Amino acid sequence: TEYRIASIPGDGIGVDVTVEARKVLDAAAAKHQFGLQWTEFDWSCERYAQTGAMMPEDGVEQLSAFDGIFLGAVGFPGVPDHVSLWGLLIPVRRAFAQYVNLRPVRLLPGTASVLANRSADELEMVIVRENSEGEYSEVGGRHNKGQPGEFALQESVFTRVGVERIIRYAFELAKTRTGRVCSATKSNGIIHSMPFWDEIFAEISAEYPEVRGEQCHIDALAARMVQAPDRLDVVVGSNLFGDILSDLAAAVTGGLGMAPSGNINPPGEYPSMFEAVHGSAPDIAGQGIANPVAQILAGAMMLEHLGEKAAAGAVNAAVEKVLSEGAVATPDLGGKATTTELGSAIAEAL
Ligand code: NAI
Ligand code: MG
Repeated sequence: TEYRIASIPGDGIGVDVTVEARKVLDAAAAKHQFGLQWTEFDWSCERYAQTGAMMPEDGVEQLSAFDGIFLGAVGFPGVPDHVSLWGLLIPVRRAFAQYVNLRPVRLLPGTASVLANRSADELEMVIVRENSEGEYSEVGGRHNKGQPGEFALQESVFTRVGVERIIRYAFELAKTRTGRVCSATKSNGIIHSMPFWDEIFAEISAEYPEVRGEQCHIDALAARMVQAPDRLDVVVGSNLFGDILSDLAAAVTGGLGMAPSGNINPPGEYPSMFEAVHGSAPDIAGQGIANPVAQILAGAMMLEHLGEKAAAGAVNAAVEKVLSEGAVATPDLGGKATTTELGSAIAEAL
């Protein structure tokens, strides 16, 4: 089998880490006897600076021919962040109905986790973030600019279809794991959308008697994720809540350099897109010291999604092996290795 993959390295460290991840994925493909046919796209803030657009007008159409999309990160100082987000990421997520943003987190060996006294199997959770609607909406506007009564209105959009499908996905996932789902809410403060979300959560929870569903206010859940993360497994949240929780979950399990994510179209009608949770990290861009693990693990998620489970498992195992040996580690892991050195060590471990 040969899979056609669109690679969009993007900006900053996105470029450094995708090179390393491709190296590892190619090694996995060679070992497990399938092919990865890469096509690279230069869509980025640099392209925006030159042409006024992050991607060409038919960008989404071009991507539709691929089996998977592998994205580094987009965003760079000088280009407002809403341009990079709304000019590339959000249109792709929405055009391909990638309504699940899946962010697994687990305590990996050799990481500088605040929870280092816990063992890895004690801490494994997955944040299921709604990825197509919610708080990230264009509805609203700015009013009375420059006047004393200036204000901004920002509306959220929660559809029954959108909320049902993400919550159902979380329950289906929980059936394959520990059978627990925790829903992030804030229905005490946000009085229209969140009670609606809670109502649908209760309805779907009733369809899954074998899964234990509970809900937790986002503020308390944030505290719990730091103090007692081992009591969480599948956590489902809206677009904004899921975004925040997944960075937090990544931070408590060893940092952004280790956290992968997938933008998934569950029926598989359209390509899904895989990326690290982190951004383009302008503060360390061009120094060759970014940790490539998050991007490599995102690649493993892509292989798994394509049905290459053995290869995905081998990539995960190679990452674990190199991290537990500890000899090759980037500065965020307390080491002195470069991005390339860590990428090569993982490719060799395969
Ligand atoms: P960021 O994730 O790029 O960086 C946050 C901090 O974590 C920085 O100190 C950075 O050095 C560190 N860090 C991140 N990834 C790392 C890695 N692999 N190895 C070592 N250290 C790492 O988030 P920030 O600074 O808020 O955003 C920077 C730019 O990235 C912005 O333009 C933002 O819009 C964009 N961004 C893009 C995303 C995407 O393409 N999906 C996601 C998040 C942010
Ligand atoms: Mg984020």
